[in-house]
Amino acid sequence: MSDASALADREGDAPDVGELTPPDRTLMGPGPSDVHPRVLKAMSTPLVGHLDPSFVEMMDEVQELLRYAFRTDNKWTIPVSGTGSASMEAAIGNLVEPGDRMLVPTNGYFGGRMKSMAERAGGEVVEVSAPWGEPLDPVDVERAFDEHQPDVFGFVHAETSTGVLQPNVPELTAIAHDHDALVIADSVTSLGGVELRVDEWGIDAAYSGPQKCLSCPPGASPLTLNDRAMDKVLDRDEQPRSWYLDLSLLEGYWGDDRSYHHTAPITNVYALREALRLVAEEGIEARWARHREVAGDLKAGLQDLGLEMNAPDEYWLPSLNAVRVPDGIDDGDVIAHLLDEYDLEIASGLGDLDGDIWRIGCMGHSARPKNVEYVLAALEDALAEQGF
Ligand SMILES: Cc1ncc(COP(=O)(O)O)c(C=O)c1O
Repeated sequence: MSDASALADREGDAPDVGELTPPDRTLMGPGPSDVHPRVLKAMSTPLVGHLDPSFVEMMDEVQELLRYAFRTDNKWTIPVSGTGSASMEAAIGNLVEPGDRMLVPTNGYFGGRMKSMAERAGGEVVEVSAPWGEPLDPVDVERAFDEHQPDVFGFVHAETSTGVLQPNVPELTAIAHDHDALVIADSVTSLGGVELRVDEWGIDAAYSGPQKCLSCPPGASPLTLNDRAMDKVLDRDEQPRSWYLDLSLLEGYWGDDRSYHHTAPITNVYALREALRLVAEEGIEARWARHREVAGDLKAGLQDLGLEMNAPDEYWLPSLNAVRVPDGIDDGDVIAHLLDEYDLEIASGLGDLDGDIWRIGCMGHSARPKNVEYVLAALEDALAEQGF
């Protein structure tokens, strides 16, 4: 309990809380990224009802813009109300039925989250292994399919915990389809920043988050499913365990009927619409190229400082640069120095890589040369403080 609320309980007064003045940070961590002023402006426009005709029109527009960003024609393309984990759970919780077997990767933090969600959905989980910091090898995926015959295969396209981009996606989806399985792709840190082609690559369902390469505040999270995936959802023997994320019910709101299911986070949908408009204006391929170019300068600058990237060049993920912490340097002190002295956010490693790496994002509106110069100069200073 904060001091203010303790005081209110004791004396019956309203808590005395000052006006909101968040610090003016530059966000170069694993997300959220800096938000474009146009998105912030969209969020300050008046609220309409979630069934207002003008909002219904906006829903169509957001769906169309999402299809563009995902490179898909999937009718079933929606923003799920909630953070990336909500769209992740919507995908897994609807496509995994009790008794189904799901194959998940072990090469990062978010493969572990896939496992937990599949288990909660009543699925049996089997794993395909690769070390943290490496992508999945199609040979291992094929072997896991032959051994376990899973019904669903999940992989993380852009692993935010390791800075690794999964190459060979069409090869992985072909293996899954040869074995009659559905493919779920985690595209939280790739959508809008790294090449992703849902239809061409044979991905059956992909989920994402708005706060990474789309540079939008969290709250409404992209999800797309093809007809094959949706047929499975609509043909389940048992209802999904979550009412809120049951896609057969959400169809009533985001499908043709536009009838009430829950009150959509209207302001977040405005924000996502504007963020996606920015993607469309820039052009999705130009946006992927910008991320590679700007993050390429960041990578080169980090290497010039004498730092080593965690991922080899073939798997380097432009939107999330994982950098090894040099021997003798305290990763937490560097992070604190950047925050205190420069109002600049980067992050430490997660899970197996905790203490071993820094994670420096280069996403969306944060993927600009001025941010790169700033982070490099600040990091040089923070490292010099520790005698590096
Ligand atoms: C790869 C990946 N998957 C899933 C998530 C979960 O998203 P959220 O934190 O928005 O719930 C994240 C968040 O960082 C992520 O990076």
